Amino acid sequence: MNSSKFGGFHGIVFDVYGTLFDIGAIVNACQEVTDDGASFSRLWRTKQLEYSVLRTVMDRYADFGEITSDALEYTSNAFGIALLPLERRRLMQAWQSLPAYPDVPLALDQLHAAGQRMLVLSNGSRQMLDPLLEQSGLTPYFGAVLSSEQVQSYKPDAAMYQLITERIYARMNEVLFVTANGFDIAGAKAAGLTVCRVNREGLPLDPLGFEPDIVVSDLGGLVDALTAG
Ligand code: LAC
Repeated sequence: MNSSKFGGFHGIVFDVYGTLFDIGAIVNACQEVTDDGASFSRLWRTKQLEYSVLRTVMDRYADFGEITSDALEYTSNAFGIALLPLERRRLMQAWQSLPAYPDVPLALDQLHAAGQRMLVLSNGSRQMLDPLLEQSGLTPYFGAVLSSEQVQSYKPDAAMYQLITERIYARMNEVLFVTANGFDIAGAKAAGLTVCRVNREGLPLDPLGFEPDIVVSDLGGLVDALTAG
């Protein structure tokens, strides 16, 4: 893990939802309450992100669980579905039992074995993140879980990325930030981090004025890039 173009970072920081964990799995939970689980889950995720950005801009922080619940309320209303308390609970719990992408455990294991320092930085609340990481068995790989709760705002607010400097004493560009989310690529680059985009689905890049430093199709590609001679 040294003499390569992308080696020698002081730490690797991972986004969570959509990067380590497959939020596509939310579709299955949504399918329990509607025939169109795919559209329902897409609107739910879109509203969740929209509310996090709006609340950050308005300086009206509410934790990610509350925002996710508010987004669910909007989505069920938009679909004309009156959720039973049990259905609502199951949908919310789905966020705590998402599967890790199949490439993730091995890649984290290899990076850990190579002595790489790893953290997560997520808009999620600890109440959502801790059970998720725990049930996946990934908790031991991470030296810290950095959450929006600590700064009471959401990525792509620069204050979120600055949290990294409390744990890793290095210049921002000496830290590798790994994310699959377009807004997060732009936010992390704007904050000065070196960024790896994980593009499992071959999606276009959001034209927000920033290019990732490296693009991989999964975390195995990241391990290869870091260890290439
Ligand atoms: C996160 C979301 C934004 O984990 O993917 O921060």
